[in-house]
Amino acid sequence: MTETLEDIAKAMVAPGKGILAADESTGTIKKRFDTIGLASTPDSRRDYREMLFQSKEAMQEYISGVILFDETIRQKAADGTPLVDIMKAAGCIPGIKVDTGAKKLAGSPNELVTEGLDGLRERLAEYYELGARFAKWRAVITIADGLPSWNCIKANAHGLARYAALCQEAGIVPIVEPEVLMDGPNSNHDIDRCFEVTHWALRTVFRELNDARINLEGMVLKPNMIIAGQKCPNQASAEEVAEKTIKCLKETVPAAVPGIAFLSGGQSAELATKHLSLMNAIGGLPWSLTFSYGRALQAPAIKAWGGKPENVASAQQAFTHRAKMNSLAAKGAWQQSHEMAE
Ligand code: 13P
Repeated sequence: MTETLEDIAKAMVAPGKGILAADESTGTIKKRFDTIGLASTPDSRRDYREMLFQSKEAMQEYISGVILFDETIRQKAADGTPLVDIMKAAGCIPGIKVDTGAKKLAGSPNELVTEGLDGLRERLAEYYELGARFAKWRAVITIADGLPSWNCIKANAHGLARYAALCQEAGIVPIVEPEVLMDGPNSNHDIDRCFEVTHWALRTVFRELNDARINLEGMVLKPNMIIAGQKCPNQASAEEVAEKTIKCLKETVPAAVPGIAFLSGGQSAELATKHLSLMNAIGGLPWSLTFSYGRALQAPAIKAWGGKPENVASAQQAFTHRAKMNSLAAKGAWQQSHEMAE
């Protein structure tokens, strides 16, 4: 049975479920492993990810799909079962990161543009064969004095639209991710500046998606929340983050989009959960609002694991706990007390 783009997109943002972003590039996962003093090798990366994907309760109850890196979609578990088969058996949809990274944008010092369009049609066809039914492309927008430039916004939005069109042609649901960074060397901007830049970026992205004839019902948006820069002395309350994020999204994201799955972007695990829950508690939203967290789902699990086989069970417990908390948040039902009760 061939599922339609609309069916897949709906399943990705099903009630109480969200996406596990486990698509760290080899360079990024090395940074994560450095925090536990573990060497990053194909086997250690496999062991770590297998540990996550074998977390039955999390994968069956709270996670709808997993974003994989190219290496992982081809890897087998220690017992020889393809990792993709393990997640499918738990009812999760395999997804794949297809951009090739954010590179320096020529003519715009200190800004980035995401690359990866060359050969993308052929790569998508292969990933479909390997089981991927959705993909991810992350564009990066940096806030600083006088930045972002229109050049950066426009080039990144255009790249996202061309990627999304190729995905839909291949029967793959595009996750469209324009990330306005909350961290970075000059991240002292306040929440209102984040609102303004995100609004501009999303308006531009949807204009480009429209020009590229994207089927909005067959995509998922992955935005940042509206939040002050990490170095801003004036951090907004969680309630203000929730209100301003909803306002920004309502003004820019068409109701035809089935779901919005946030990135965590450097927020602590618990705060990312709280923000999502507060937004869903506001209610009356035209789209499903859920998570597509990397760090906010994995950080406690990596710490508990520490690279040691004897810690697999406690790492799975830590991952399952965060997945469950975020599932509650996707229903607007998370309370601080749930953290303690576990
Ligand atoms: P974070 O939640 O750690 O920001 O990662 C999500 C992601 O996939 C970024 O592209």
